[in-house]
Amino acid sequence: MCGIIGYVGGRQATPILISGLRRLEYRGYDSAGVSVIDPSGVTGDGRARVVRCRGKLAALEDKLTKEPAPGTTGMGHTRWATHGRPSDENSHPHRAGSITVIHNGIIENHLALRAELAASGAHFSSETDTEIFAHLVERAVQSGTTDLTTAVRRSLAKVRGSFAFVVMSDKEPGTLVAAKNSSPLVVGLGDGENYVASDVTAILSETRRVIFVDEGEMVTVTRQGVQITDFDGKPRVREPKTITWSAVQAEKGGYKHYMLKEIHEQPRAVADTLVGRVDLEHDDVLLDGIDLDPERIKRIVFIACGTSYHASLVGEFLVESLARIPVEVDLASEFRYRDPILGRGDLVVAVSQSGETLDTMEAIREAKKKGAQILAISNVVESSIPRLSDHAFYTHAGPEIGVASTKAFTTQLIATVLLAIYLGRRTGALPRERARELLAELLQLPNKMRDVVESGAQLQVLARRYGHSHGFLFLGRGAQYPIALEGALKLKELSYIHAEGYAAGEMKHGPIALIDETLPVVVLAPRGPNYDKVVSNLAEVRARQGKVLAVATKGDAEIGGHADDVILVPDSALELQPVLTVLPLQLLAYYVADFKGTDIDQPRNLAKSVTVE
Ligand code: AGP
Repeated sequence: MCGIIGYVGGRQATPILISGLRRLEYRGYDSAGVSVIDPSGVTGDGRARVVRCRGKLAALEDKLTKEPAPGTTGMGHTRWATHGRPSDENSHPHRAGSITVIHNGIIENHLALRAELAASGAHFSSETDTEIFAHLVERAVQSGTTDLTTAVRRSLAKVRGSFAFVVMSDKEPGTLVAAKNSSPLVVGLGDGENYVASDVTAILSETRRVIFVDEGEMVTVTRQGVQITDFDGKPRVREPKTITWSAVQAEKGGYKHYMLKEIHEQPRAVADTLVGRVDLEHDDVLLDGIDLDPERIKRIVFIACGTSYHASLVGEFLVESLARIPVEVDLASEFRYRDPILGRGDLVVAVSQSGETLDTMEAIREAKKKGAQILAISNVVESSIPRLSDHAFYTHAGPEIGVASTKAFTTQLIATVLLAIYLGRRTGALPRERARELLAELLQLPNKMRDVVESGAQLQVLARRYGHSHGFLFLGRGAQYPIALEGALKLKELSYIHAEGYAAGEMKHGPIALIDETLPVVVLAPRGPNYDKVVSNLAEVRARQGKVLAVATKGDAEIGGHADDVILVPDSALELQPVLTVLPLQLLAYYVADFKGTDIDQPRNLAKSVTVE
C-alpha cells in the first residue's frame, strides 16, 4: 500500500508533491521520491529529474535541498515495500530511458515480464516489479508509438495484478498518464492545474473537486484538462464530486477510526496477500522463492505474541491437518526462558506484524543458537525479525495504524494456510484435488469477507445491547478456539471490559460457574464436525440464563433456537472459516468500544509495536 501523487500546472511541482506525500505517509514510509520536469525547458536538461531515497519523507526533503527538482509537471511516491527491500535503488519513481513511473500495487506476472525484457536487452537497476512497467512503456515509445497515452495503453495489456500507475515522459513534459486496476486512484481538478493521487488526502488542500477513477480506466492529465478512457481507449464521461471531508477524516478514508477503515480493508489486504502465490496450474502455492524441504522438517514451532500468537494457534491446526507435520505453538515471552529443546530438524515460524516485537526477536535468537531454521511471517519488509530469519514471507496488508490488529491478523491466517498447503503438497499429505478445492476457495474469500464486514449495522445494535456488561466469555472449538481468544483480546484491549476466550469443551471444568444473565457469551458455531458439541455447550449456557451471541454459517436454521442473537457468516472450507468468523468479533469489539467512548486507535497503556520485554 503506497502513496502516490501527481501535478500538472503553472506552479512549481515539488512543494505540492511533498505536501501531498506528507499526508500520504500513513500509506507507507519505507522510502520516498519525486520526478519533476520543466515543460518550458528553461530549467533542467529537458529530462525529468528524479530525486529519491530510502527512509521517511524528511530524508527526501533533505536530499531535495541539495538536489533541487525544478519544473511544473511532477509526481511523487511514498513506499510500503512488497517486492524488493527498502533501499535507494528500490525507491520510486523508476526510470527507463525517457519514461518515469510510480506505482501502488503488485504486478503478479513481474518475473515473466522481467525475463522477457531482459532477453531483449533491458537492464534493471532495482529488484522491484514497478521498474518493469517503465521498461514496457519505454519499449512501446521506442517501437514508434508516438504518444504517451498509447504507449501506456499498450503496456497495460501485458500486465496482470493490482496497480495504480502514474507515468511521465521526457518527450511530453506537460502530461501525466495514470491507470487503475484494484489500487485506489483519484483525479483532482484545479483552475489551470490538475492532480492525480492515491486518495483525496494528498490533494484536499489544493482542490475539493475530484473524480474517483474506476477499475480499468486510464486518465491523461494536462494543465488544460483530464481525458478518461477505458484500457481499450473508449472515452468515459465521469462527473466530478465535491469532497466535504476534513483532511483528518480523509486520511481515515471517511471512516471514524483507522481501526474501522482497516477492518474494511481486509478483503483487499487478503487479495493482495494472495497475489502471485496461488499456482492454479499446478494446484500449488508459491512461497516467494522460499524453498522448504519437509524431509528436513521434523517439527514446526510457531512463536509469537498477542494476536499473532492466536494466528499461530490457527496455523497449528492447518499445518497438522494439511501437512501432517507435528506443530507446537509458544508464547515468545515464555519460550525463551524455558531452555527449549530445539535442533536442526525444527522449523521455527516467527509471526509478527511489526517485525519488531522484542520478545519474539529474542526468542528466535535463542532458537537460532540451538540450530533451528527460522521462517518469519511479517507485514513489514526488512524489519528486524525477517532480517534475523533464514526465510521471510510477507503479508501485504499495508501499514496497520490501529493498535488493535485486524487486517494483519487475517492476512497472517492466509499466510499460514498458504504455508500448510505448500507443505502438504510436498509431504504428500494433501491430495492435489483437495489442494485445488482449497485454492479455489481461497480466491473467493475476499468477496465473502466483504459480505461480513458490510454487516456492521447488526454488530452496532448488539454492542449497544451488551456494551454495559461487566464481562464477556468467548467460546470455540478446534480452529475456532483461537478465534475465541482473539475475540476476547480485541474486546478487552479496546473497551477495557474483561473478556475471556475459552475452549468450549472446557466450560464444564470450571468457567460454567461464571454463567448468569449478566454475562454475554459469544460462541463460534460455524458448520463443521464440532457443531453438535458446540450447540450442546450453548444449551448449557442458556440453561443458566446466560445470554448467547452465536456466530454461525449462513443457512443454519437450527442455531436460532439455541441463541439470543445470531450473526451469520458465509459458508467456506473448514480451514478458511477462521478468516470469516473473526470479522464479526472485530466489529463487536469496535462498536462496544465506540459505545463506551474509549480511544479506539490508541487504547490506554498499549503500543503498536512492543519493543520492550
Ligand atoms: C493486537 O491487537 C495487539 N495489539 C498485540 O497483541 C499484538 O498482536 C502483539 O503485540 C504482537 O505484535 P506483532 O505481531 O507486531 O509482533
